[in-house]
Amino acid sequence: MYRTNTCGELRTEHIGKTVTLAGWVQRVRNLGNLIFIDLRDRYGITQLFFDSNSPLAEKAKSLGREFVIAATGIVNERASKNAQMPTGDIEIKVEKLDVLNESKLPPFTIEDETDGGDDIRMKYRYLDLRRNVIKENLLKRHQVARAVREYMDAQGFADVETPVLIKSTPEGARDFVVPSRLSPGNFYALPQSPQTFKQLLMVAGFDKYYQIVRCFRDEDLRADRQPEFTQIDCEMSFVEQEDVLQMFEGMVKYVFKKVRGLDLGDFPRMSYADCLKYYGNDKPDLRFEMKLQEIKEVVSGKNFKVFDDAEAVIAIVAEGCSEYTRKQTDELTEWVKRPQIGAGGLVFIKCNTDGTFKSSVDKFYSADDLKKIAEYCKAKSGDLILILSGPLAKTRKAMSELRLELGNRLGLRNANEFKPLWVLDFPLLEWDEEEKRFNAMHHPFTSWKNEDDELLQSNPGAVRANAYDVVINGVELSSGSIRIHNREKQEKMFSLLGLTPEEANFKFGFILNAFEYGAPPHGGIAFGFDRFCSIVISNLDYIRDFIAFPKNNAGRDMMLDAPSDIDSKLKKDLGLS
Ligand code: AMO
Repeated sequence: MYRTNTCGELRTEHIGKTVTLAGWVQRVRNLGNLIFIDLRDRYGITQLFFDSNSPLAEKAKSLGREFVIAATGIVNERASKNAQMPTGDIEIKVEKLDVLNESKLPPFTIEDETDGGDDIRMKYRYLDLRRNVIKENLLKRHQVARAVREYMDAQGFADVETPVLIKSTPEGARDFVVPSRLSPGNFYALPQSPQTFKQLLMVAGFDKYYQIVRCFRDEDLRADRQPEFTQIDCEMSFVEQEDVLQMFEGMVKYVFKKVRGLDLGDFPRMSYADCLKYYGNDKPDLRFEMKLQEIKEVVSGKNFKVFDDAEAVIAIVAEGCSEYTRKQTDELTEWVKRPQIGAGGLVFIKCNTDGTFKSSVDKFYSADDLKKIAEYCKAKSGDLILILSGPLAKTRKAMSELRLELGNRLGLRNANEFKPLWVLDFPLLEWDEEEKRFNAMHHPFTSWKNEDDELLQSNPGAVRANAYDVVINGVELSSGSIRIHNREKQEKMFSLLGLTPEEANFKFGFILNAFEYGAPPHGGIAFGFDRFCSIVISNLDYIRDFIAFPKNNAGRDMMLDAPSDIDSKLKKDLGLS
């Protein structure tokens, strides 16, 4: 038997017992007359000790970091206890020591604060996974998955698997493809999501489906995006939007309660239009106010051409920041001018605590004008007003970035606070300036609001979808919609997206056909599971540390060195050379 106990479980009640532990050597401390070893496994760390006159002393001293050992001995009470460690009251006086495997010196320290850079940790991911932080993330990820399954099972959802070698799915990203040997020159696509399959399962009568499922998207990577990621994919029949919102708000609440012990409360709901108006983007971080305010009306007509000529002039109020120095305001100006933000400049109005005002555009605005602007923005004395101008969409976007940046700098994005919301009433379509046609904002299976039927011909860009997102702390956690379940409507949608009937048939004939065989009304949602985990577990929007074997920012698996060339014979078989 390799072990009688784990390295995380021994306590004072075990004192006097003979035990065998197995694990990895975290460190060896040689104090001359005593030798201590911290032995680590998944469950914790237990201290082993050896007298210098023990016959095992030399062997113990020779152990290196990350050696795998088994040690048998008696549980003793520690002379100096360590309250920081769950096993800190005891130690093992070792009587038998076996080296099960040696280890080369690891290329970085296996500690919470490691000295290893990103690349080296990705290359030796199995060592990085030994670190407490990453290990705990993955174990908690398991808990999140379990909580999700508990909820879904209790609500009667059936877990059904869908294929991975499929035909292209239209989620808007590029597909990863797999060449077919049996059908040379043809390709399978890997699913960007199981969207069409879950709808077909509704046609098949499954009523409530879910799956924790891998999805693949060949798109540019960011902190919250991986080329392969996991969704909690869900679909229900005979539902309206409200049914779906209730069901999945319940799921998010259940998971937060189960994993974090937190009651989230009811989710507020906000229209897409209001999100853009007040926060500049469709995934607002509601942990702090600092709403965008459109102030063109009050700043126009003072000969300041930048504002007079701008489509939009937008302000935010940073509370208590009127004392910002020139250096600080210059630095913020440089920040918004960076190409990622792309603003032309930034205007400031300081609402001084003595009741006076000072602005970076004093040439154009009198003290009285500035007072009016401050009143319009509901700024108090001691506040700083920051103003951007330009085309509406671009200015909103830049302001939303500036708002988040100020939120960070002012410590308003509290890591212990969770502010979920539903974003509703998304537009059905978005105009693609390059292609000069509409794209589906969510995906082409999303239905539109009956009351906007008329607009489909006259003003398609204004049609609202039956689509909804859950956002928490500025992270889009999930998207979903009520679907089209009727062939004519689906064909109409494809034609709005510029597909000819032939193209629509080639790409989506299977689902158009299915809609002719009694498709029930249905709708659903998919949560980004990696994002869900990173938020629930650590309130972060950085997902890599919540995935066992992630890709780096260039989409590479550094450990496997993939993607890589393949065998020339295989290439030939696949018709690739
Ligand atoms: P959507 O494309 O919005 O919708 O994806 C749903 C959720 O998946 C997560 N997500 C990602 N997570 C990590 N890396 C990525 N590259 C990535 N891309 C998306 C996000 C997102 O909200 N079939 C529809 C859902 C539906 O209509 O039911 C879909 O896939 O959290």
